[in-house]
Amino acid sequence: MELKAGLSAIVTGGAAGIGRALTIALAQKGIFVTIIDFSQEKGIEAASLAEEEVRKIHAKLKFPAVLFFRCDVSNSNELAAAFRKHVETYGGLDICINCAGISNPLYFYEDLTALNLGGVLLISIWLQ
Ligand SMILES: NC(=O)c1ccc[n+]([C@@H]2O[C@H](COP(=O)([O-])OP(=O)(O)OC[C@H]3O[C@@H](n4cnc5c(N)ncnc54)[C@H](O)[C@@H]3O)[C@@H](O)[C@H]2O)c1
Repeated sequence: MELKAGLSAIVTGGAAGIGRALTIALAQKGIFVTIIDFSQEKGIEAASLAEEEVRKIHAKLKFPAVLFFRCDVSNSNELAAAFRKHVETYGGLDICINCAGISNPLYFYEDLTALNLGGVLLISIWLQ
């Protein structure tokens, strides 16, 4: 898939680490991003940096270039609200990146936590 200006993406865990780096990289291509993360402070900071990048490409937007939702990805109601707002704002969803998680020594298939397995499954269900 070609990453073109005007596409839109949701990045969970977009406030820090890999998710944040991907958020900024997408924004630099003019892609509108919704960050979903439970870190308020880092989320706002990442959203503001990404907003600056998107606006270098889309100067006169009449809607927010980037959205941030403080949300726990294991909470299906919060996730659903964030997805709805994204689709309402950008008219669809082109890219979804699941980075929210915490590292632990388990293999993915052994990790049955609400966050690392549940969060990914909930997002997959919302993408149906
Ligand atoms: N960094 C690595 O080398 C590496 C390697 C393999 C796998 N991973 C996995 O990739 C994922 C991202 O790694 P990272 O290094 O960017 O981690 P990170 O800790 O830097 O960033 C993870 C982000 O996810 C957010 N988050 C965590 N739980 C959340 C929840 N329940 N709801 C919403 N947001 C939540 C955190 O607030 C943080 O902003 C993690 O699951 C990690 O275990 C990382």
